[in-house]
Amino acid sequence: MWGDLNGSIVPRQASPKGWRGRPPTRWSERGVSRRSFLRFCAAITATLALPDRYMPRIAEALEAVKRPALVWLEFQDCAGCTESFLRASRPSVGDIALDILSVNYHETIMAPSGKAAEKSLRDTVVNEKGKYLVVVEGSIPTRDGGVYCTIGGRTALDIAREVCGNAAATITVGACAFYGGWPAAKPNPTGAVGVQEAVPGITLINLPGCPPNAVNITATIVHFLTFGVLPATDQQSRPLFAYGERIHDRCERRAHFDAGQFVEEWGDEAHRKGWCLYKMGCKGPATFHNCPVVRWNEGTSWPVAAGHGCIGCSERHFWDEMTPFYRRLPTVPGAGVQATADQIGAWIVGGTAAAFAAHGIVSAIRDKARPLDENPQINEEDR
Ligand code: SF4
Ligand code: F3S
Repeated sequence: MWGDLNGSIVPRQASPKGWRGRPPTRWSERGVSRRSFLRFCAAITATLALPDRYMPRIAEALEAVKRPALVWLEFQDCAGCTESFLRASRPSVGDIALDILSVNYHETIMAPSGKAAEKSLRDTVVNEKGKYLVVVEGSIPTRDGGVYCTIGGRTALDIAREVCGNAAATITVGACAFYGGWPAAKPNPTGAVGVQEAVPGITLINLPGCPPNAVNITATIVHFLTFGVLPATDQQSRPLFAYGERIHDRCERRAHFDAGQFVEEWGDEAHRKGWCLYKMGCKGPATFHNCPVVRWNEGTSWPVAAGHGCIGCSERHFWDEMTPFYRRLPTVPGAGVQATADQIGAWIVGGTAAAFAAHGIVSAIRDKARPLDENPQINEEDR
């Protein structure tokens, strides 16, 4: 099923049968068969951890004619998040997700340039005020008046305040827009911060990762289009459907961890057999993300399956707190038992990732025990 979210919903000659009796939709016009469309909706429903009965509602929202405006801002970044979302060997879910939106501004892919590009942004902010979505990629420099990133003569900080401040919702993608990312790694010469810190008080959700997974970006957008609100989040504003569980607890090598079977050296027999990478520095026990479930590259693999440990790319300050990447985490207590927030807090504080633990793991686990935010569109028992 996950392949449907990673590219296998390939537009091909649509079977008129499935769409017969229905008005044309942009899906049928693009050659997507009704069956593929519904499989895609089912996969999105599963990704969002919603019951199956929400699938028709998601399908209805995706078939709607209206195309909400989207602005995609890039600040101090490498464009890797854009690449992750759009790069595919064939038409992907990223293409299709963007097709259900009106992408009015995206520096990497838009046709206009210069003043025409800035006009597109300006028109959206003014004419679609309070209705458009913003995706932000990259960090925002705050030192020296924010001069280290300017676009069209304006600082990133100035642009973010105006564009995010007038949007219906802001979706940050990647580590940089989350907390500052690699530009914020010590000594953080530009004073880089994430959007939430630069523009406090806005409606925002964080999709960290280096890069983030296109599946999670798509599912978040679809949730917003369907229910009119962002998905429930943890205390770091990360959606629980994607960041609610530890890598370690869904990892296919977990049985080897519990059995004390570890890779000791790259390329040794244990490595060839697919044993646990904990001793090689895997940060899966301290990282919350759905990589083992959703996977990457059209659902075919993910870092640990490929033989490399998780480097904790979806956690705050991972460039500073998760390094050296090949140094093991402090001993994980209670092997074979899912640790509680208190156990993990006690274990990791004093270790290499103390600051991360205080703000990451503990709050995330605690959030799982708390009532979720009110969402009038979704019954509480469905969460
Ligand atoms: Fe998987 Fe890493 Fe945990 Fe080992 S330490 S089970 S490789 S997540
Ligand atoms: Fe990042 Fe770890 Fe997933 S490095 S991509 S959170 S497996």
